[in-house]
Amino acid sequence: MGEKIALHLCMGSACYQLGVHRVLPALQKLMQDHCLEAEIELKGAFCLDNCMHGIVIKVGEKTITGINPENVEIKFAREILPALKNNSQG
Ligand code: FES
Repeated sequence: MGEKIALHLCMGSACYQLGVHRVLPALQKLMQDHCLEAEIELKGAFCLDNCMHGIVIKVGEKTITGINPENVEIKFAREILPALKNNSQG
């Protein structure tokens, strides 16, 4: 406890083209809705080396790809939240 889990959101140019500037506020909203702001630190990252599969998020060792402004809620529920839970359990 105490340590925040870092969630890295790719802000590289390829992911930017895909709409990361729209994914960011959606993610912030989802974190608020799930009361996760105290536990998660959302950080911008440079290219996460998965441009072909963007938009990319990294939680610990887990890389989550294929995010877009339309599917971010589903991705959050199915992939991002479980990855965050895994990380918080060590
Ligand atoms: S710009 Fe996002 S993975 Fe390369």
